[in-house]
Amino acid sequence: MNSRQSIAWLNGELMPLGEARVPVLDRGFLFGDAVYEVIPVYAGRPCRMDEHLDRLSASLDATAIPEPCDRAGWRTLLGRLVEANGGGDLALYLQVTRGVAPKRDHAIAPGLEPTVFAMAMPMPPRPAELTERGLAMVTVADSRWARCQIKATTLLANVLHKQQANEQGAEDALLVRDGLVIEATASNVFAVLDGVAVTPPVDPGMLTGVTRNLVLELAAGAGIETREAALLASDLERASELWLTSSTREVSPVTTLDGRPVGDGRPGPLWWRIDRLYQEYKAQLQAT
Ligand code: PDD
Repeated sequence: MNSRQSIAWLNGELMPLGEARVPVLDRGFLFGDAVYEVIPVYAGRPCRMDEHLDRLSASLDATAIPEPCDRAGWRTLLGRLVEANGGGDLALYLQVTRGVAPKRDHAIAPGLEPTVFAMAMPMPPRPAELTERGLAMVTVADSRWARCQIKATTLLANVLHKQQANEQGAEDALLVRDGLVIEATASNVFAVLDGVAVTPPVDPGMLTGVTRNLVLELAAGAGIETREAALLASDLERASELWLTSSTREVSPVTTLDGRPVGDGRPGPLWWRIDRLYQEYKAQLQAT
């Protein structure tokens, strides 16, 4: 799919993405005053749509942006977007801004109407290299704000951390605050310590990943031991495995951290198990 020709949704209308326009006084453009979701779709079926829409409602609530649509409305919008883009494997991007203001002013003018934008991005199959070689990561000090549980579009710190990692030849950065590993720039993290898959507990300073929660659920169903507990950066050296989870990355193995191998430097046995469970979950979704 040429992305400019994919079909987008803007304020109630479907249109080619390249033709979608937002006024420059939109607070999403001027202040990053907006929240978003990314929802994976497999063979035309959205994965964990309700969990994503619950989180969208929580983000809107936390920012006092009025929710422009009820659950049925969101489902219809996303269904139409999937259909207009021919189904298949997609990542749906859904953004709600506080709306277009009469002038640039930090203070929020009353009565603004939220802007609703959605697009479908292709989700290519993961490269074989990922399962063979895994990802390289670096640790960096987390410079983001304290309310990362809100899925806000204000992602400058994440963008700069990702760039910092790329410039060091790594795929992404693990963000560390006060000696604790929080998450990566656009995914959550699990570390296998003494055979247990440990992930940081839900906290206002971190995004509660839908994929993270699904991985915890799948692991519990298969008897894989997990723990939601603070993850010390100093413990990463002894982790036998490290995984990233997100709606677009699924569960990805990290095999190099700060230039040193994680475990034996290859995707580990627990990753292979959890990945199989994840792929089975996707296949079941497609069969429904
Ligand atoms: N990012 N942490 C951060 C900071 C994220 O941006 C994301 C998702 C996650 C994982 O959440 P989930 O499992 O619900 O996708 C964790 C999306 C994919 C993005 O910004 O593109």
